[in-house]
Amino acid sequence: MTERIISIADERYQRLPPHVPAPHEIPAGPPTDRLGRRLHDLRISVTDRCNFRCTYCMPKSVFGADYAFLPQSSLLSFEEIERLVRIFIEHGVEKIRLTGGEPLLRRHVERLIEKLARLQTRQGQPLDITLTTNGSLLARKARALRDAGLQRVTVSLDAIDDAVFRQMNDVDFPVADVLEGIAAAAAAGLAPIKVNMVVKRGVNDAQIVPTARHFRGSGHILRFIEFMDVGASNGWQMDDVLPSAEVIARIHAAFPLRSLEANYQGEVAERWAYQDGQGEIGVISSVTRPFCAGCTRARLSTEGRLYTCLFADRGHDLRALLRSDHDDAQIARAIAHLWLGRDDRYSEIRSAQTAALRKIEMSYIGG
Ligand code: GTP
Ligand code: 5AD
Ligand code: SF4
Ligand code: SF4
Repeated sequence: MTERIISIADERYQRLPPHVPAPHEIPAGPPTDRLGRRLHDLRISVTDRCNFRCTYCMPKSVFGADYAFLPQSSLLSFEEIERLVRIFIEHGVEKIRLTGGEPLLRRHVERLIEKLARLQTRQGQPLDITLTTNGSLLARKARALRDAGLQRVTVSLDAIDDAVFRQMNDVDFPVADVLEGIAAAAAAGLAPIKVNMVVKRGVNDAQIVPTARHFRGSGHILRFIEFMDVGASNGWQMDDVLPSAEVIARIHAAFPLRSLEANYQGEVAERWAYQDGQGEIGVISSVTRPFCAGCTRARLSTEGRLYTCLFADRGHDLRALLRSDHDDAQIARAIAHLWLGRDDRYSEIRSAQTAALRKIEMSYIGG
């Protein structure tokens, strides 16, 4: 008998073998979790690597030269991802977000997009496919991504000032290159472009108004994200969080705002428009105004574990099912079973105790 070699990087987080129920144990139709939430979005991490070392996400002290990223053999192949996405569509998924790490570091990621762009929702509509990127490779790749069938992108950008931006990405990456990436994405038609800025009090909060000023009237939607206690390495403290209400107050003082209705039920960002018609911004307030009640998001890690919450500490090993002799119907039942049992609402029950728990890293599971 040959022994299976288990990579140490694979065993960093707890892994649960999914239960495969018998057909009669699973009700027909898309599953709803224990809090009445359906399964609408699948966020897929395609690599755990990143070329940035944002201090709030992959601090160099933890993600240094000797950090063990996942080996190639651990990653789900594009065929495996596509197979899972088909099954998730049967369960009601209509929206796919590719994340990382930095998803554009995954070789030939546009081939995956091509495969996914051919799939349709249960209603026969195209999937809503998007991607979250740090923008560093976007100038080079925007056109190919668009040609492959990507509809839009979300770019992370934590400051418009070059010195502050370089300090936050901690690899001395210039802001001008990200702005060039955003321009290339816009030229390729990857719109609407959303720009995500994580706000850390005392680090980049002085950048709120300047960054808003920069993107006003550009057609891009800037969103301010409260710094969250994801993972176990970013040293999160409540004092680091600048509440979204304050972000809005500061921008309103410079450029008057009015609130907008959500685009869809369960939208994570609260929307605000500039009163002078120069576009909109958003705030994502996972700490001060949790949105778990509408959370229809499942997350798939790079090596195929399903996480039912961003703050989970263990994932369900779907890769084990894919790489054994389970058929699609069995895998579909295993996923339905997990969703039916889901009761996560971490942000609503956050406390000093939960903030200190060991959780998966955001660079591993994606935004
Ligand atoms: P679109 O509306 O499709 O553009 O996406 P979105 O509004 O869901 O936003 P996006 O996927 O860009 O997420 C933005 C940020 O919101 C993430 O980087 C996270 O910081 C936060 N976020 C997104 N989903 C969740 C979630 O389920 N839980 C928590 N706590 N935070 C989330
Ligand atoms: N808090 C809030 N958002 C975070 N992100 C990463 N770490 C955190 C954190 N601690 C988000 C950033 C980035 C995306 C990939 O994940 O918005 O854009
Ligand atoms: Fe990389 Fe995004 Fe994390 Fe920054 S926030 S280290 S760009 S994955
Ligand atoms: Fe969903 Fe968990 Fe985020 Fe709440 S904390 S919104 S349950 S991912």
